[in-house]
Amino acid sequence: MNILVFLGSTRQSQPPKPPRLGSRVAAALVAHFRESYPDDEIELIDPLDYDLGEVFKPHFAYASGRAPEPLDALADRIRKAGAYVMVSPEYNHSLSPALAHLLNHFGSSRYAYKPSLIVTYSAGQWGGVRAAVGMRTFLSELGCLPVSAMVHVPHAAEVLDDEGRYRDDEGAERWRTYLQRGSTQLRWWAEAARRQREEADPHTLIGDFTREPRQRDAPG
Ligand SMILES: Cc1cc2nc3c(=O)[nH]c(=O)nc-3n(C[C@H](O)[C@H](O)[C@H](O)COP(=O)(O)O)c2cc1C
Repeated sequence: MNILVFLGSTRQSQPPKPPRLGSRVAAALVAHFRESYPDDEIELIDPLDYDLGEVFKPHFAYASGRAPEPLDALADRIRKAGAYVMVSPEYNHSLSPALAHLLNHFGSSRYAYKPSLIVTYSAGQWGGVRAAVGMRTFLSELGCLPVSAMVHVPHAAEVLDDEGRYRDDEGAERWRTYLQRGSTQLRWWAEAARRQREEADPHTLIGDFTREPRQRDAPG
């Protein structure tokens, strides 16, 4: 199974300290999946690896074959993946603009009919739960329905070192058990969705929206 772990932070300035807390949370998630499911292919998607330009131009706005190569390659990776892990900080009780911006570059048909796992974190005590609630709506619209279990990491800088390792061995076991619930749900749904996609291709059966938002409108 191929799983993409999206890191939802590009913040390199401070305060607040430390910057890019999300890189250690994403690293912990990647390590968790690689240890628990060694046969899976786990890839980290870092928004800093993509030059998205100053003007927003989504992948689907380019004529066929004209999109920049890195954007095209990411579109392909999203289409081929079986599940997604979305790692986001909480900015003003919402998901990270960096994550939303990156995900918005691709049409929902790329993500659809596959599950996602919501992972949020914060420097403070709430672990990003308010952002997580909004992420359910966002990800559902992309068609990668979030599984019910979520992962929240409060005080992330105290839980994880800057490479994403648990600072405290005793706590590490409790975190592994906590993450396992989300990762097991994600893989269960991903496996079920993969089988059903093979049985009946949803893109043919239901059809993708490829022209304009009006395709979603109720009649009248
Ligand atoms: C613009 C901004 C808004 C923030 N809003 C919240 C918030 O609503 N809730 C919260 O718990 N932390 C909030 N924080 C603190 C973040 O949890 C903390 O800065 C964390 O390190 C952000 O992740 P990042 O370093 O990966 O960007 C905010 C930080 C910034 C920069």
